[in-house]
Amino acid sequence: MFCLNGKILLGDIMLNAHFIRTPEDYGYNCALFKKEFAVKGKVKSAILRATARGLYSATLNGLPVGDFVLAPGWTEYHKRIQVQTYDVTELIKEENTLVFSLARGWYFSLAGLPQIFDYDECSVIAELVITYLDGTKETVSTDESFAVAKSPLTYCTIYGGEDYDARIVPDYSASAVISSKDTQELLIPEEGEKITEQERLSVQKIIHTPAGETVLDFGQNMAGFLSFTVTAKEGEHITFSCAEVLDKDGNFYNKNYRKARSQLKYICKEGKQTYKTEHTFYGFRYIRLDEFPENALSSAEITAIVVHSDMKRTGFITTSDKMLSQLFNNIIWGQKSNYIDVPTDCPQRDERYGWLGDAQMFIKTGSYNFDVQKFFRKWLGDMVLNQHEDGGVPDIVPAINNYAGAAWGDAITICPWQIYLTYGDKEILKEMFEPAKKWIGYITNVTTTPYLWTGGKHFGDWLELGGEYGKFKGPTRDDIVASAFYAYSTEIVCKMGHVLNEDVSYYEDLYKNIVKKYKETFQNDLKTQTECVVTLHFNLCDEPEKIAKQLVDIIHKAGDCLQTGFVGTPYILHVLSRYGYDELAYKLLLRTEYPSWLYPVTKGATTIWEHWDGITVNGDMWPDTMNSFNHYAYGSVGDWMYERAAGINTVEEYPGFSCVHFAPAATDKIDSFSATIKTHYGDITSGWYHKDGKVVYEIKTPVIATALIEGKAYNLTPGEYTF
Ligand code: BGC
Repeated sequence: MFCLNGKILLGDIMLNAHFIRTPEDYGYNCALFKKEFAVKGKVKSAILRATARGLYSATLNGLPVGDFVLAPGWTEYHKRIQVQTYDVTELIKEENTLVFSLARGWYFSLAGLPQIFDYDECSVIAELVITYLDGTKETVSTDESFAVAKSPLTYCTIYGGEDYDARIVPDYSASAVISSKDTQELLIPEEGEKITEQERLSVQKIIHTPAGETVLDFGQNMAGFLSFTVTAKEGEHITFSCAEVLDKDGNFYNKNYRKARSQLKYICKEGKQTYKTEHTFYGFRYIRLDEFPENALSSAEITAIVVHSDMKRTGFITTSDKMLSQLFNNIIWGQKSNYIDVPTDCPQRDERYGWLGDAQMFIKTGSYNFDVQKFFRKWLGDMVLNQHEDGGVPDIVPAINNYAGAAWGDAITICPWQIYLTYGDKEILKEMFEPAKKWIGYITNVTTTPYLWTGGKHFGDWLELGGEYGKFKGPTRDDIVASAFYAYSTEIVCKMGHVLNEDVSYYEDLYKNIVKKYKETFQNDLKTQTECVVTLHFNLCDEPEKIAKQLVDIIHKAGDCLQTGFVGTPYILHVLSRYGYDELAYKLLLRTEYPSWLYPVTKGATTIWEHWDGITVNGDMWPDTMNSFNHYAYGSVGDWMYERAAGINTVEEYPGFSCVHFAPAATDKIDSFSATIKTHYGDITSGWYHKDGKVVYEIKTPVIATALIEGKAYNLTPGEYTF
């Protein structure tokens, strides 16, 4: 079961420790808490448990404790806070200095939506349990005996970045104070994946822009830390600003960060020095050197450190098509940049929130690319805690206190169902069954039309094309999207119930009624691509071939290109394939002109863009009010690449790839295409290539499988096959 508070699992582990804070408010200046202590004998083991209201890091005798960065991660802090456990036996000496650095982090930062961060004083709690060789134990716990100092980190927020004054020597003349929130009730053991430093990118190019700026290009849009080593004079300044793209003149551009300052400001001490940011993260490809010691650049070392949840990579796609390879690479980097403890919309501007819609749209691709089972278990736990009494869920988890509309709120059914399909995790269905039913209950209560979801506030097919330029919504009608997802979520609840052997007769009746009413109301009145796509994908029409043809006609009329937004995009290629239009699906996938998945690749994208035209054909930017270049939603096309292009499919009755269905679709437009997914049962590979005018299919399965290849069905036992 999800850990809701410390009573369940953590017990009395931190019994003697207190949440401690600074004696006065240091504002955005980070705080240091220090304790010096000696051990009394030979140490067998030393285990440190720690967490914070805020972000903390710890050092023992000057060395970092553990590799979890941005600890304790981001949960619904009003309800639960994760505790990290570190084995520090190797770091312990006779005389010891334990230091905690504490920043506001996600707990108390100002952001675009300030109501998310409505917390107050930051505090840290920890307990170090030392076990001696003779079996006796001793504990060092956070309390008033910790000395406190203002950190040289004079300013730090998630969105603002860091200001560090290397000249400051911390003055530990004050003592810690017990926090007014000194309760352990909300503490839980770590539930998600730890966040760690992953890769280091070096500067690929130093650019001197027409505007006279010095800009470093790391060659890859990403999220993480900045680090540098430089030789400088005391008092010299270093200021870095972040950007994802350059403008059409080749100048630095980051207006799209909106209110996120996203800078690193550093004041040097004398001599050679190294700095690495730690209590913030940046989304960037380019760094502008706003200030830098004269003549120091050539000998300086500046590094971008990629940071994300420590998920195991499981999905791989290789293809002869270079543009498609780059697209897949961009999908992977979109995920790396946005799975930082919480599935976020983007890692750079003043959002970086766990938007439910974005998460559900991408989860299938995400769950093939990486093992995200644990990552989602934690986030779904927070979603349950954020669910309202009436079953509504907020748009964002951890949470803003509002009500999500269709396709965003439906994350509460779609995400657990996908985790079940990809990993066979039945526990998650048990956890999410009641919350999912409550969500259906909420829709049933708030709709203005029985058996449809009409009325209410929805994002619709967010960022769909075909509307007024610069507006966020296109012509697809909210009532259609909302009713389609009402049907889909109800269907998922029925499926969950069947797996769990629960009585879902009420939901089965409800589902039948929704489908009936949907058909009566909408099936003869579909106008947009997304309206057709959701109707087909969720099986909400009597004559799917007819609607599929209608969709194809609309696509042709649009010049053989997609117009879908966040809601329609994940499904459009699946729907085309299902009704026999693989070639059109490939045409859309391989199209390089705007609008298409590959258009951003032609513009040099290294991540997925929020808009089909984040940079327009003539090089202008989409309005900076909403223009992220690292938004994974449209990367959801990855699941068609795995499932249809390569042909690796889960089987609902045998979840977690305990059985596979292969249904690859080859095309003359590409020489070769292949995918591998690493599962609990072993590696599954499927792909094809052209040879002597024929298509050769290669399949490797560690489990029993079925295959449908060029219309012929096969039953396969574990092994390798060539067709
Ligand atoms: C986010 C989206 C999100 C949306 C809600 C935006 O500001 O970046 O990705 O889903 O708001 O429509």
